[in-house]
Amino acid sequence: LLTAIEMAPRDPILGITEAFNADKNPNKVNLGVGVYYDDNGKVPLLECVRKAESQLMEKATPRTYLPIEGLAAYDKAVQELVFGADSAVVQEKRAITVQALGGTGALKLGADFLKRFSPNAQVWISDPSWENHRALFESAGFTVNNYPYYDASTRDVNFDGMLKALGEMPAGSVVVLHACCHNPTGADLTEAQWTDVIKVVTERGLVPFLDMAYQGFGDGIAEDGKVVRRFADAGGALFVSNSFSKSFSLYGERVGALSIVAASAEEASRVLSQLKRVVRTNYSNPPIHGGQVVATVLSTPELRNMWEEELAGMRVRIREMRQALVQKLKDKAPGQDFDFVIKQRGMFSYSGLTKAQVERLRSEFSIYAVDTGRICVAALNSRNIDAVVEAIGKVL
Ligand code: LMR
Repeated sequence: LLTAIEMAPRDPILGITEAFNADKNPNKVNLGVGVYYDDNGKVPLLECVRKAESQLMEKATPRTYLPIEGLAAYDKAVQELVFGADSAVVQEKRAITVQALGGTGALKLGADFLKRFSPNAQVWISDPSWENHRALFESAGFTVNNYPYYDASTRDVNFDGMLKALGEMPAGSVVVLHACCHNPTGADLTEAQWTDVIKVVTERGLVPFLDMAYQGFGDGIAEDGKVVRRFADAGGALFVSNSFSKSFSLYGERVGALSIVAASAEEASRVLSQLKRVVRTNYSNPPIHGGQVVATVLSTPELRNMWEEELAGMRVRIREMRQALVQKLKDKAPGQDFDFVIKQRGMFSYSGLTKAQVERLRSEFSIYAVDTGRICVAALNSRNIDAVVEAIGKVL
């Protein structure tokens, strides 16, 4: 059985971390994975998380199984964060939310659910998209196609191409959209462009699946989440995966959620009953700790304010790093315009570096980026940025 098994390729993102960890160079920099590091190069433990954890420690609750759909207080808090407590979908109980193992786990639940109930649909992801989107939907059994998204010549969204493709998809197609902070390009749609997308998706009866892994890293929590609420208001079935890996710096706790909006409360309860079967046959029920932390923070006003401030701090620091990167590249790579980096949103910059240049960064300077040229700006800091800029200048 096992003798003929071939070696699988390294994961295009997490495989970089494996290579980075094995690198002995003390000056190595990991711009590969989407992880926020503070200015000291450390993954922060947010103060709101620390406080919530000490409250939870005092209570010292037993570790029984959570319900299949997760901690009720978590699901409620997440749903209100995603759609708004006073939104029609929440008020009318048309939305269901289940705790999931990070954003990836939420996507997989959604993919398995869709495959069960819409087996002949095809899935469409942006070109390019997060490296794992294709693999994840394919592993659920779907044919995955690309719709045009990024135009390397303008370093912006090829909106005409995207809209045309959406307008030609068969009804029932599943369209994966990045709610904010597009991964990997950092190029987001404008509000007016979203209006057109929502219109065509609704008119053609497509199934929107919004992936929101970076809420709060673009323009703010409310601003970044707005498109989800606009889709919910537009009516029609809606899938939303969200993650607290980045926004709470809780990567290893695997805290995310899948929400589905149905046409009525009765429909929603049928959807939930089936989604619970998907959870049960995958991992039975989710782990407790991360969900408790997030639920505690979101539902305690003092901790929630603290979270919003800490998240704003991360967002602002990333913006500063974008500015600094562009400024410093003006010296090290004269004649090349990197102003587009400032406009990009979220953790990533689609830098335009070629695969060969990325390989040189890795082999000559121990600077790790994704082969596509995606760099994680959130891993830059005041101590490593000069070395990174110097190296980029050399490989250019
Ligand atoms: C990324 O894109 O780097 C992150 O979402 C981490 C991951 O799981 O790939």
